[in-house]
Amino acid sequence: MNEIVRTREPDTLPARAYWAPEYWTLDRNEIWAKTWVLAAGVSDFVAVGDYVSTTVAGMPVMVVKGEDGLKAFHNVCRHRASPLVLDACGHIQKLTCPYHGWRYGFDGTLLNAPAMNIAKEEYGLFRVRVETWRGLVFVCLSDEAPALEEWMREVSDAALRTPLEEMHLARKLSVEADVNWKTYADNYAEGWHVPTIHPGLNAAIDMASYRVETTGHVLQTHSARARDGGMTDGLWLWRLPGLFLNMYSWGMSVEQIEPLGPRKLRLNYRYFVRDAQEIDESILDWSLKVTKEDLAICERVQANLEAGIYDRGRLSLVFENGVIQFQQMVESAYRRGGA
Ligand code: FES
Ligand SMILES: [Fe+2]
Repeated sequence: MNEIVRTREPDTLPARAYWAPEYWTLDRNEIWAKTWVLAAGVSDFVAVGDYVSTTVAGMPVMVVKGEDGLKAFHNVCRHRASPLVLDACGHIQKLTCPYHGWRYGFDGTLLNAPAMNIAKEEYGLFRVRVETWRGLVFVCLSDEAPALEEWMREVSDAALRTPLEEMHLARKLSVEADVNWKTYADNYAEGWHVPTIHPGLNAAIDMASYRVETTGHVLQTHSARARDGGMTDGLWLWRLPGLFLNMYSWGMSVEQIEPLGPRKLRLNYRYFVRDAQEIDESILDWSLKVTKEDLAICERVQANLEAGIYDRGRLSLVFENGVIQFQQMVESAYRRGGA
C-alpha cells in the first residue's frame, strides 16, 4: 500500500517577532540595513539642493541633488547628532546643520565647523548608496548588497509586459498604521482573505484564478483575472522585503513599506497612470479602500499578537505559500543574526 506522505504545515513566526525590541533590532540589522529601499522619484529632484528625507527601519536618511548627481547620507550631523534636514522634502541653498551651524558640501564633505579646531576630513557625513531604476530612487545602507539593477533583476523580468516608462506619476500619498511591518507583509502575501476582507476587490477579480508564485527569497508574483464585467485584473509583484508593484488595468501603484518602529509603519504610495491623464478619483478611492481594509485587519491582528495568549499558528500549504516564503526569508535573516 502506498504511504501518503504529507508535508507538515509550517509554524508561523512567534508572536514576539511582531513587537519585541530584540526582533526589531534583527529586522533593522539583518533585513532592512541590507536591502534597497525606495526613497524618492527622480522627478523629485530638479535643482541642485533639492532633497528628500526618509527612514530605513528607523534610521533617518536623506537624498540630495548635488552638482554631479544624487547623493545620499544618514541624516545625522557629525557634531552632536542633529538631523540636517527636517522636512520630508524641500530645497536648501547650503547643507547647514540647524543646531550649531556645521556646514557640509552636497558631497558630504565637512566645509565649516565654527569655533572648532578639528580635522574636517574626518567628519564628513556618513554616506549611503543611492541608485535609480526606471525613474525611482533607491537607497541602501549596506556595501555588500548587489547593485540595484541586479537586485531588481527578477522584478524587471516579471514587469516586462507593463510599460512602466510610458506611465506618469499622478499622485503620491502615505498612510500610517499601528502595525509591525511583518504583520502587513504576512497579509499581503496571501489572497485568501480577499473575499472576507475586500468585498470591492472581490467583485472585480476572479478569485478562482488567483495565483501566488514565489521565486527564492526574492520575489512574489500574485495574479488574478478580471471577473466578467469586473473593473480590473491584477498583477502584484513583491520584491522582498518591502517593495510592491501593484498593476491594474488603469495603471499601477508602487508601494514601499517604511517601518517606523516595532509597532508602527508607513506605506508610501506612488500612483502611475497610462498616458498623460489625471488619475480618476474613484480609482484612487477604490485603491485606498483596499489599503484601509488591509490595515484594519492588520491592526486587529497586531493587538492580539501583543496580547500574550497566541504564540504560533500554522500556515496552509495551499493558500499561504507566499506567507511561508516570506517567513522563511525572515527566519533565515534571523539565523544569520544569531537568533
Ligand atoms: S549638531 Fe550639528 S552643528 Fe551641532
Ligand atoms: Fe488585502
